[in-house]
Amino acid sequence: MKFEKHIFICTNERDENSLRKSCGSCGGPDLRKDLVRLINDSGLKGKVRANKSGCLDVCEQGPAMVIYPSGFWYLDVNKKNIRTIFNESVLQDKPVKELIASKDQLSTK
Ligand code: FES
Repeated sequence: MKFEKHIFICTNERDENSLRKSCGSCGGPDLRKDLVRLINDSGLKGKVRANKSGCLDVCEQGPAMVIYPSGFWYLDVNKKNIRTIFNESVLQDKPVKELIASKDQLSTK
């Protein structure tokens, strides 16, 4: 296995006239940069990878991200809570109880 963990963060952009929200225009790309910085600062380059993803189909609740292999999903990620998510879910493999997406949230679009 090339990477121990993969973080996919939606950076999908829609046409500016689209009625649907898109993570690309509400912080997704910046959050990916934050993740890359956190990975590098933690000495995890080459072990953990933060990839841009296309639409994860939870657009109205974005920015959205998912971590594998744990399968932890987070919605409405922001510059404040991304550090907590990284520390708990990437470094320690624990869900952040107050932030992790519920099944109900993931079944709505
Ligand atoms: S645009 Fe990000 S989940 Fe759809």
